[in-house]
Amino acid sequence: MEMITNVTEYEAIAKEKLPKMVYDYYASGAEDQWTLEENRNAFARILFRPRILVDVSRIDLTATILGFKVSMPIMIAPTAMQKMAHPEGEFATARAASAAGTIMTLSSWATSSVEEVASTGPGIRFFQLYVFKDRNVVAQLVRRAERAGFKAIALTVDTPILGRREADIKNRFTLPPHLILKNFEGLDLGKLDKTSDSGLASYVAGQIDRSLNWKDISWLQTITSLPILVKGVLTAEDTRIALKAGAAGIIVSNHGARQLDYVPATISALEEQLSLEEVEVALHDYLVCKSNSLLKRLRLPKARRSFNMKFDKASSVGEDIVARGRVSTHDNIRGRRRSKSSRQRVVALSAIEAEYIAMTEVVKEAYEYGVVKAAEGRIPVFLDGGVRRGTDVFKALALGAAGVFIGRPVLFSLAADGEAGVRKVLQMLRDEFELTMALTGCRSLKEISRDHVITEWDRPRIAPKL
Ligand code: GLV
Repeated sequence: MEMITNVTEYEAIAKEKLPKMVYDYYASGAEDQWTLEENRNAFARILFRPRILVDVSRIDLTATILGFKVSMPIMIAPTAMQKMAHPEGEFATARAASAAGTIMTLSSWATSSVEEVASTGPGIRFFQLYVFKDRNVVAQLVRRAERAGFKAIALTVDTPILGRREADIKNRFTLPPHLILKNFEGLDLGKLDKTSDSGLASYVAGQIDRSLNWKDISWLQTITSLPILVKGVLTAEDTRIALKAGAAGIIVSNHGARQLDYVPATISALEEQLSLEEVEVALHDYLVCKSNSLLKRLRLPKARRSFNMKFDKASSVGEDIVARGRVSTHDNIRGRRRSKSSRQRVVALSAIEAEYIAMTEVVKEAYEYGVVKAAEGRIPVFLDGGVRRGTDVFKALALGAAGVFIGRPVLFSLAADGEAGVRKVLQMLRDEFELTMALTGCRSLKEISRDHVITEWDRPRIAPKL
C-alpha cells in the first residue's frame, strides 16, 4: 500500500481494485450529481477565524453521543453491502470502529447480520432502519438489533423510492450472487433479482413502505425503547416536527447525494441562508420598530433588552464598548454632531459602532435559521455527507453539529485495505481534527464556537447607514 496521507486518496485505489459495477454503486450520486459535488464544495467555502496564543498543550476530543462517551465526534455512517468492498465487510468496519472508540452504524442492507456484527466484540453501535411494507419484518429486525446490543435506531426517511443513480442503471447493478442481505436471511427480502433495470431499485421499490410518515415515529416507539435518530432531515420545518415527534436526534443527511439531486449540501443546511430580501425585511423591521429616530436607535440598553443581544460576544468592538460602560444617549448624539473634544468623539464613535454591531446582530439573527436553530439545543443535530477532512468535522461542529458520520471514506478504505484501511481513515480524520482544534485555539469540543468560522452569509450584505 503506497503512502496514504489523506482520506480521499483511498478512492482511486478502490476504483482500481473494485469491479466497475461495485465502485460505481458506492461512488454515484443521483442524476446530475450536483449535490454530490456540492457536499464537498460547500465545506470549501467555509473559512476559519483561528484564535491564537491559546494553550493547546492538551486537547480533549472526546464526545458524548446520546449519553455514550466516544473518543471523538467522528462516527461511521450506514453504508450498504460492505462485503462487496472487502470479504470481511461489516466485520472489518465494526472492529475498526471499536478500536477507534467510536460508533458504527450498521445498514439494514448489510451483508452481515446484526448478530454477526455484535459478535465482533464490544462497541457502541447504531442500527439504520428502512421501514418495509411488512411491518413484522421491521419489528423483528428492530428487536434483533436491540438484543444484539445496538444502542439507537437511525431511521432513514429520505428514501420512499430509491434515487436515480444512472451508473447503476447502465451497469444493471445487482448484489453479487455470493452475497446476501444478511439481516433478511430466510425472508423473501434477502435476495436481489437481476432485472433489466437496477436490481436494487426494483427491489427497494417493491419493499420499502412509501406510506411512511411522521405518525410512524410513534409506531416505532411502540416497538422499541431505543432512541430514534431521524436521518435525512434538511429543513428547519422538519426538525421542529422531529422534535415534537420525540426524536432523540436528527441526522442532517442527503443520503450521500444519492436521493434528491439539487438539495443543498448538508453543511449548508445547518444554517439555512435566507434570501437577500428576507435579510432586508429583518433589517427593515429592526429599523422601523426600533428606530423611529436616531435617538431611539442609539438607546443601547433598550436595544439590548429588545433583542437580547449578547454584546459581550458580538465582537471585540462590542466588548470594548461594554468595558467602557454605557454612555448617555444624549451625549452620543451631541458627540456625534458636534464632536468637539476627542472624548466626545470616542463616545460618539462607540455609539455608532455599537449601533453597527446591533444591526449586524439583527442580520446575523435573520440568517441564523435552519436545522440547528430549530433543534433549539433540545436534541443533538448530526451530519453526514462530504466529510473528508478534520477541518470539515470542525466546521460542522462550529455550525452546531454534535458529531459527524462518514460513509464513502469507509467503503473506499475498506476496499483498499480492509480493516487496516478503515482504522487508518479514522485515525487520519482524528489527527486532522485535533490539528484543526490546535490551530484554531480550541481545547475541547465545547470551545469550538460559531465565531471560529466565517461563512458566506455572515457578512451583512447591507451596509447599515449610520
Ligand atoms: C442505500 O442506502 C443506497 O443509497 O444505495
